[in-house]
Amino acid sequence: MESTLPDAFRARFPLLARRVYVNSCSQGALSLDVEAALAAFTESWHEHGSPWDQWVAEVERLRAVFAAAVGADLDEIAVMPSASAAIGAIATALAFDAARRQVVIGEFEFPTLAHIWLAQQRRGASIVWARAVDDTLTIDEYAARIDERTLVVPVTHVCFRNGYRLDVPRLAALCRERGAYMLLDDYQRTGTAPLNVHALGVDFMVTGTLKYLLGPSGVAFLYVRRALVERLEPLVTGWFGRADPFAFALQPLDWSSSARRFESGTPPVPNVYAATAGIALLQSVGFDAVERQVSRLVSRFVDGALARGFDVATPADPVRRGPLAVVRATDAAELVRRLAARGVIASARGTGLRASFHAYNNDADVDVILDALDAEATLVRRA
Ligand SMILES: Cc1ncc(COP(=O)(O)O)c(C=O)c1O
Repeated sequence: MESTLPDAFRARFPLLARRVYVNSCSQGALSLDVEAALAAFTESWHEHGSPWDQWVAEVERLRAVFAAAVGADLDEIAVMPSASAAIGAIATALAFDAARRQVVIGEFEFPTLAHIWLAQQRRGASIVWARAVDDTLTIDEYAARIDERTLVVPVTHVCFRNGYRLDVPRLAALCRERGAYMLLDDYQRTGTAPLNVHALGVDFMVTGTLKYLLGPSGVAFLYVRRALVERLEPLVTGWFGRADPFAFALQPLDWSSSARRFESGTPPVPNVYAATAGIALLQSVGFDAVERQVSRLVSRFVDGALARGFDVATPADPVRRGPLAVVRATDAAELVRRLAARGVIASARGTGLRASFHAYNNDADVDVILDALDAEATLVRRA
C-alpha cells in the first residue's frame, strides 16, 4: 500500500522532489509552511523594528500549541533553547541529599544527558549505570538499579544510536513505586506519534523542534508535572524566569508560579515562529495518521533489510521501535557518503547507518534505500 497520507502533505517539502530524505532523526525536512513562518518573522522585523509584544505573544502561542499537542497544561511547559538547557534546569533544581542522591542512567542515552548528570557529581550526585545487553536495555536492568537511594532516572524513549524504544509507562510506574523521579527524553519520538505526558506518568519530559516536529534548531521544551513546578528552583536562571519579567526589577528573585520559572533569557523568536508552523503542519494531518505511516515505513525497511540478511540493530518487535532504524555497516560514514551520491540522505552513528522515517516519506523511499544498500552491499554487514 502506498502512502496513506495525502500527496499534498508530501508536496509541502520541496527537498523530497530531489532527494530521498531519511534523516529526520537529525533534522526534519524544511516545509513551505515553516519557510513562510520564517518570512513572517522577518517581515514583522522589517515592518515594525521591535514588535516585542507581538513576539512574546508568539512564544505564548507556541507554548499553548505544544502543550495541547502533548496533553500538558499550559503552566507545565517551559520554552527552552535546547534539550540540554531543559535537562540542566531540572538537574540543577534537584537536591542530592544523603538519603537520595543516585541518578540511574542507561547506556542508550544521548551523550548530553550523561554529561549533565555527571556534572552534578560536584553537587553530590552519585551515578549508577543501567547496562545494555547487545541492543536491548531491559526494564529488569533498571529495576535492579532503582531503589530507595535513587533520586532521578533520566531515560530516552527511542535510542538515537539503534532505534530501541523503551517501555516508558512501565518504567514510570516502577520509578513512582520506588519514590524516584523520572525524566523522559522524547526527542527521538515527539512528532511521530500521539503523545500524552499525563498518561505516560513521567515527572519531567524534554524534547525539541528540529527533528520530527519539523522546526529549526533553537527551540526545545520542558514539561514539569504540575505538582513539582513550584517545588523546584533551577541554579541557572534569568529575567524570563521571574513572576513578571517586564517589571524589570533587580529584586526580589521571585519565581514564576508556572514552568516558565525554568526559562532564563530572551526567547529565540525567529525559531519560535518556525516551530509553531512545524507543529501546526503535523496537526493538520493528525498524529494518529503520522504514527500509522511511520510505523508502516519502519516495518517495510526493517523487514526488507532482514530479508536481505543485513545486520539490523533495531528490534524486530515493532512495539520496541520508534521512527528510526539502523543497519550495521563495515564503514558507516563511507556508506552514508555513497548513499548521498545516489540521492539518499541518511546518517551514521558508530557502526550504524540510520534511516529515520516521517510522515512525508513513502514506500518508494524505502525501496530506493533498500536498492541503494543492495548496490553498496560490500559496505553492509551481514547478520
Ligand atoms: C535523544 C536526544 N536527546 C537530546 C539531543 C540533544 O538535544 P540539544 O542539542 O537540543 O541539547 C539529541 C540530539 O540529537 C537527541 O537525539
